[in-house]
Amino acid sequence: MSADAPIRVSGLNHSYGRGALRKQVLFDIHTEIPRGEIVIVTGPSGSGKTTMLTLVGALRAAQEGSVRVLGEELRGARLAALERVRRQIGFIFQQHNLLGALTAQQNVELGARVNRRLTRTQAARHAGEMLAAVGLGKHLHSKPEQLSGGQRQRVAIARALVSEPAILLADEPTASLDKQAGREVVDIMKRLAKQEGATILLVTHDNRILDIADRIVHLEDGRLTTFTDAVIANNQQMMSMLADHRQKQSLAEQVEALDEGEFRVLLQEITNDSERFLEATALANDMAFRSMLEQGLFAFTRKLGQLLNAERASLFLVEQDALVLRVADNLDAIGAVRVPLGSGLVGAAAQTGQPIRIDDAYADARFNRDVDRQTGFRTRSVISLPIKNQEGRVFAVAQLLNRKDGQPFNADDEERFGSFIASLGVILETLQGLGAAAGGRAAGLSAGPG
Ligand SMILES: Nc1ncnc2c1ncn2[C@@H]1O[C@H](COP(=O)(O)OP(=O)(O)O)[C@@H](O)[C@H]1O
Ligand SMILES: [Mg+2]
Repeated sequence: MSADAPIRVSGLNHSYGRGALRKQVLFDIHTEIPRGEIVIVTGPSGSGKTTMLTLVGALRAAQEGSVRVLGEELRGARLAALERVRRQIGFIFQQHNLLGALTAQQNVELGARVNRRLTRTQAARHAGEMLAAVGLGKHLHSKPEQLSGGQRQRVAIARALVSEPAILLADEPTASLDKQAGREVVDIMKRLAKQEGATILLVTHDNRILDIADRIVHLEDGRLTTFTDAVIANNQQMMSMLADHRQKQSLAEQVEALDEGEFRVLLQEITNDSERFLEATALANDMAFRSMLEQGLFAFTRKLGQLLNAERASLFLVEQDALVLRVADNLDAIGAVRVPLGSGLVGAAAQTGQPIRIDDAYADARFNRDVDRQTGFRTRSVISLPIKNQEGRVFAVAQLLNRKDGQPFNADDEERFGSFIASLGVILETLQGLGAAAGGRAAGLSAGPG
């Protein structure tokens, strides 16, 4: 444990009220945030996020346990010490809390003067620079009411950061903003904080902004769950790939470089997490996790094609009465290719629940040549494997097309392919669970229950 982490919380309990009305809202919280890191605390409304933030921000007295901020123990601390800590923290709240009678420039100047004991001229200059940095150089003299919600929140960021705080605490900063304004606000926050080396603790239940975090922790009924931590720790490799490479293609390229053993380990880690994830329904709207799975599914399917020396690997999902192509090399074809249930090789595999392996597709009456026409491919040898959910119902079909050496696929290929399919099934099922939980919005890969 690093002694100089700006925020170190251990054994923290907190209760509101007294006697019979006493209600504990935080239970044995432990966390440590290293310098320069951005930690997001997610959790449903009422789970204790704001309470935790105000305790760390020295805005509320810690009752039990330890809260060390910037080297000071806050529990039992004197007012002067609390004040000293508070002065080194920038706060951003859900509501911007700007003074309506003052201009943007004056609001930010106030932040600069309160915390840094600057002269008026210095404060004015810093305020102007900060407002320019958040893209409001043209609005220095606007009053809050003349600004949009996103602009006001950017003034609040400028005000919070103008005094160069060591720590930035933000409570639902995007709650009142639309998607684009929220995005801009957190991007600016991240850029400036990284520039200044500030440590950020941000609480939110806005899962659209989770990707700015170095680490996500989850509060549930006053307890910090380590689940997300575990997912991220286990999938460090995956997450950093994701952070650096938003494009599906580049993740696929990275996975492509793994050998079969490394790939099996990675897949096992992801599927273990997926299984736990299925159980942890409270986290079912975790966008970062879903995005990881979606990209993973794509990368893994391609990887299977590579490992099995196939020209193509694809994945069809059962959607009502058809199988819809969801993972393929040819991105244009995704979602556009639909095969009626019971038709074609994928349809037959789905309907019978049995694997199909054939040497020459064009000699098999079940083969549907329309799919080749739509994807511009010439199929020869095929393996179609049904993927079943926990109840044993087929909800997807994975397919390999054409061995690269021109030979037909053999029983060995089929067995190796099959050994990966259970993992793909768990990932797919997790994604479907996430899609349902988030109102079926899972980008690209959502599929209704077939
Ligand atoms: N000042 C307060 N007095 C009594 N109960 C409070 C007070 N503030 C919050 N609570 C209660 O504590 C719990 C956690 O609240 P809060 O920290 O605001 O959660 P969150 O920010 O995650 O929505 C809730 O049940 C809330 O009703
Ligand atoms: Mg709150």
